[in-house]
Amino acid sequence: MVLQSRSDQFAPLSFASLMADVSGDMGHALAQAKAFLEASSSCDLLAAVGQELSDLPEARFPDKRWFQRSYGRSVTDAPEDFMVGRGLFYLTEQRRLFLDCTAGHYQMTWGYDHPELRALLLDGIARGIVWDNHSNIPAAPVKRLAAKLIELANPGADLDLLQSDGRRLNTVLLGIATGTVACGAALKIMLGIYRRRKRGAGPPVFVILDGNYHGTDVLAQRLRGMWSEYFANLEVSTVQPNAPEELETTFARFGERVAGFMAEPIMMNREALSVEPEYLQLARRLCDETGALMAVDEIQTGFWFPEVMQWRRLDFEPDLVVLGKGMTSGLHPLSALLYRGELDHLEQYDAISTNGNAALAAYLALGCIALIEHNAAHIEEMGRYYHEQLWALAAEFPDLLVEARGEGYLSGLKFARVEDALGFHKAALARGLWLRVHAYHPGHSTVLSKFALVLDRETADFAVGAMREILRVRPWRQ
Ligand SMILES: Cc1ncc(COP(=O)(O)O)c(C=O)c1O
Repeated sequence: MVLQSRSDQFAPLSFASLMADVSGDMGHALAQAKAFLEASSSCDLLAAVGQELSDLPEARFPDKRWFQRSYGRSVTDAPEDFMVGRGLFYLTEQRRLFLDCTAGHYQMTWGYDHPELRALLLDGIARGIVWDNHSNIPAAPVKRLAAKLIELANPGADLDLLQSDGRRLNTVLLGIATGTVACGAALKIMLGIYRRRKRGAGPPVFVILDGNYHGTDVLAQRLRGMWSEYFANLEVSTVQPNAPEELETTFARFGERVAGFMAEPIMMNREALSVEPEYLQLARRLCDETGALMAVDEIQTGFWFPEVMQWRRLDFEPDLVVLGKGMTSGLHPLSALLYRGELDHLEQYDAISTNGNAALAAYLALGCIALIEHNAAHIEEMGRYYHEQLWALAAEFPDLLVEARGEGYLSGLKFARVEDALGFHKAALARGLWLRVHAYHPGHSTVLSKFALVLDRETADFAVGAMREILRVRPWRQ
């Protein structure tokens, strides 16, 4: 049986009809732009970064007049919005070529349209792997992904012993689409365990790092200071990262009332600040002493290190690990919460997304992980190299830069003055470097990058060279 989308009344499904591309200009412009990116060498593309490629055809694209204000509603005239991408490069609708230094919104682990992942995707579809289905009947790739994440968290473990030991990281919640839901699930587990184990202790306390970002759920937002007037019988104690004495004092003050401690290993939402391993190890010890749970939010760091999860490099083991963002290399959001089996008390509808457990996305996630494993040495080496180059840059311009932050591909250039960070960011965009700046909170003045893992030396040198030139010329000061 073939279900037709056609009828006499409607045009067949096509790019032209769906995109209201009556003249065919948009389809033509996209095809030509894509063909250009595919035919050009990386070297040629680097030489053209920042230029408007006026030989490519122009087109009219839909505008953003119906968008929310905070998403650019006011920008309806010729925006530099995304048109097509390949690897680390993308062309805007105005045909300007950019080098994407942030892997999309930090989720395009292998850049745009990675050939092996594209082939895997088509192979999956051809084999009958469906895009999605009901979570109660998970398809093979979802089950395989669960096993793979457990293997990554417990390298070399005897799987039978692992399964029967509730103190080990042997349970995965994969029925969730976004990082927000995964973080929310971790927080609910903390609350639920607190209720079971410490009911008489008083209102639970979350110990949390200043500048945290664990998604857009109302409780996660409460952790960063929002909505506090609407919460009762729950306390949040915010501490400065890498300040061990304050952490000790806080745990000593609240004792068994601490329900949980949650942290990102690299605070990409606080100027790429690295949380020191010793600090996280101390948090682990204090959680053990007070019976609190420890969660690491690896939404940003996960899938960007050779070990896949960064905590595995830092010499401690959390109780809960939040993963998402780059897991499927941007195909479709799929997130995961890994935790100790003994904490497994949530019911199905306590933490679920309709689009969690998606089979094709899980298949892509397995491909993403395999690429990380195959390229582990390169990822280690390139991450170190890129970071060293940023440190060298910081040393070269001490009048502007305080330091380079982060680790590996997740980096920040901390400026002494916010005006310089903003000026640099503007100049970088004009040069064709898509970077982000953290300057919207008082004291924030950091330019962020998180290259996709296809970064090579030539491109890293180009990017750092372009940054060096901008720092030297300082166009915003003229
Ligand atoms: C550290 C961290 N946690 C949680 C989230 C929320 O993830 P999502 O946007 O998929 O809900 C983000 C998103 O940027 C994040 O960076």
